[in-house]
Amino acid sequence: MTQARENWSARSGFIFAAVGSAVGLGNIWRFPYVAYENGGGAFLLPYLIALLTAGLPLLFLDYVVGHKYRRSPPLAYQQITPKAESLGWWQVMVCLFIGLYYASVLAWAASYVYFSFGQKWQGNPEQFFLQQYLQNNRGTTLSFELIPHLFFPIVGMWALVLLILYLGVKRGVELSNKIFLPLLIVLFMILVVQAVRLPGAVEGLNAFFTPNWQAMTDYKVWLAAYGHIFFSLSVGFGIMVTYASYLGKKANLTGAGLVVGLANSSFEILAGIGVFSALGFMAHAQGVPVKEVVSGGIGLAFIAFPKLISSLGSSGDWFGFLFFSSLVFAGITSLVSVMEVPISAIQDKTGCSRKKAVLGIGGGTAILSTLLFSTASAMSLVDIIDHFINNIGVVLGALLSIVLVAWLIRGKLREYTAHSNEVSSIKLGKSWQVLLSIIAPLSLIVALGLTMNSLFQEGYGDYPAWLVGTFGWGSVLCCLIGAIVLHYLPRSPAAPDAKPDPNTGEHA
Ligand code: ALA
Repeated sequence: MTQARENWSARSGFIFAAVGSAVGLGNIWRFPYVAYENGGGAFLLPYLIALLTAGLPLLFLDYVVGHKYRRSPPLAYQQITPKAESLGWWQVMVCLFIGLYYASVLAWAASYVYFSFGQKWQGNPEQFFLQQYLQNNRGTTLSFELIPHLFFPIVGMWALVLLILYLGVKRGVELSNKIFLPLLIVLFMILVVQAVRLPGAVEGLNAFFTPNWQAMTDYKVWLAAYGHIFFSLSVGFGIMVTYASYLGKKANLTGAGLVVGLANSSFEILAGIGVFSALGFMAHAQGVPVKEVVSGGIGLAFIAFPKLISSLGSSGDWFGFLFFSSLVFAGITSLVSVMEVPISAIQDKTGCSRKKAVLGIGGGTAILSTLLFSTASAMSLVDIIDHFINNIGVVLGALLSIVLVAWLIRGKLREYTAHSNEVSSIKLGKSWQVLLSIIAPLSLIVALGLTMNSLFQEGYGDYPAWLVGTFGWGSVLCCLIGAIVLHYLPRSPAAPDAKPDPNTGEHA
């Protein structure tokens, strides 16, 4: 017997979960360092343009697809046209790769909550983070030796996330979001208010908010903006399709979309304000320009904040606690949403129970993630996999979902506009269709082409080619193979029916 699809208990449950998913490490850890590396103020405008031209339109599309077909991405796209099931599996594979490294950064944040008390980095955060804590080998070799102080926190994070998933949509995902999201908002607000009051904060804010027209002519700044926006909004890799599939028939899709989009970007800008205020404070203290104050990259949050904390004396401990706890709360709810995609997809394909899917898929990913990221290679692997999966995996998945409904299947966008307008307060119209059929796909094709070309020509970072080949291109190749294999895997007779009941129009 097939099981009925789970549901949110109320519309607020969906909004909490969708905001909890969107607001994550992407906002607090990733956005500030991507902005810092791309010239601070030079990044903000491309980011907002990417949000309006591609991020929000795709968010609405994901909601309509999830709500209309009430299935996880593979079976939702399969109902558009059977061949498109593989696109859904591509997105599932992308989620698995994101899950692998996301848990690692989350575990670093959890460790830093503890390190903040007594400021365990003892005045030298850079050396502490890279050498003592991560024992980073800079990708020179691939290490398989487990480091206990990396191992235990990542196991703890996975245990918590899998427990939440195991408890189901209402009792696990919805409830955890209703607890963690308000906590995150309170902690983060206190933190940002404290940060902007630091001496020199204004120098950092100037660097963040002053547009740099010259730097904006660099196409890489635009690529970074388009590569970040989908990750940040949780669109284009199946999360919002999955979450919307748990909605009831009556759901204000566009209203929810605007709340989620606005909440996510507000958080992102707030995180930028917090981190750049801290950078301004340090620049002021050291008498150097903001852009020279720390080395950027994925260590920014773990180096800049401890530096700031050290300079605040013992009251800095609380500052660290606020910042790193915010990262943990934000990250848990997002990792839950990332893993919900493969779990829901496997249930839809095989008809197995949620519990089996969590233990099988979630447990398997957790083991691999723990083995790979409890080693001296952790930092290089996070950096490489994050770059390739975001800039190729997520962007390609997003582009294909747009091309499918806007270019390949005639009339779909009109049908979706009507579907959304039937249930939503804010009506979609021609401008949404134009954004999805022209502006978004063309910008994404250009972004993807330039990114791939630059990665082919120049490699990535200072890492050896074999490492980038294995874990960067290798991750993309794995997504492709996974998408094809899972597409052709026969559906179990126990799986819920992909087609709605002709009498009631309801899915199982
Ligand atoms: N949207 C999630 C984040 O920003 C994945 O971290």
